[in-house]
Amino acid sequence: MSHNTRSQAVELAEEYYDSTEADAFYLNVWGGEDIHIGLYKTPDESIARASRRTVETMAGKLTALNAESHLIDLGSGYGGAARYLAKNFGCYVDCLNLSKTQNKLNQKNNLRSDLTHSIDVSHGSFEDIPAPDDSYDFVWSQDAILHSGNRLRVLDEITRVLKPGGEIIFTDPMQSDGCPDGVLQPIFDRIHLATLGSFSFYRSELLKRDFEEVMVLPMLDQMRTHYVRVGEDLQSRYHEIVNLSGYEYVDKMLRGLEQWVDAADKSYLAWGILHFQKKK
Ligand SMILES: C[S@@+](CC[C@H](N)C(=O)[O-])C[C@H]1O[C@@H](n2cnc3c(N)ncnc32)[C@H](O)[C@@H]1O
Repeated sequence: MSHNTRSQAVELAEEYYDSTEADAFYLNVWGGEDIHIGLYKTPDESIARASRRTVETMAGKLTALNAESHLIDLGSGYGGAARYLAKNFGCYVDCLNLSKTQNKLNQKNNLRSDLTHSIDVSHGSFEDIPAPDDSYDFVWSQDAILHSGNRLRVLDEITRVLKPGGEIIFTDPMQSDGCPDGVLQPIFDRIHLATLGSFSFYRSELLKRDFEEVMVLPMLDQMRTHYVRVGEDLQSRYHEIVNLSGYEYVDKMLRGLEQWVDAADKSYLAWGILHFQKKK
């Protein structure tokens, strides 16, 4: 296990997700289970239904997942995926997440769902995973690794904690491989990041670490639909969400969502499911 100090991006992500404004926004717009990009069958589908479909689709790719499996969810949010996986596959899930506010609700819902025997929730950062080498059969992560200021280190940590033959499946908002320099700066400034990952970054870094590609499924259209849907939902519930998160937060979020949609239209962004297996 490594013991370096956290990147500044990690400190900022913790402060952001623990804030009352952000927590109220994510809880109310997504519904308290999943807070990631959804897979929409129709552009007007509910955010919660589409977001759950992402979990179902990813889980469907893990053909070796069973009741003996030990999985870690990096950046587990409110724990919606963990409960889905533990309920449907009987596997053990460790949730590692930076937000104490989200972790509290995760634990409460695990208790309510009678899943505390199969789900463990820890406060911590995926830049320094609190687990011995070769601990897990699966690493799972949804729309969280973007928040790291040191993604190479996150990939080193994932490699370290996965057993030989173990699998990583994840999604992440990324920049496209052909994205021109500088065009995403307004987005980086808003979310306090210096870079985003990309398909070619993750592919080449995982291959370097002795992983084999199982599947990479780009779905930029789903990312665009998702940000449009979140924007529409926020507009239609503007006063309700403003009462919870304040004008400043909501107006900034609406401007931010427009930036993501605009950058998606210009093909500067990328999103999808990445699935790799560590060599045996
Ligand atoms: C968009 S949310 C996704 C949450 C969850 N994966 C889901 O799909 O519902 C991003 C999550 O990443 C977590 N996160 C950000 N940086 C992290 C870090 N360095 N270590 C662990 N979790 C982190 C945040 O607490 C937040 O819950």
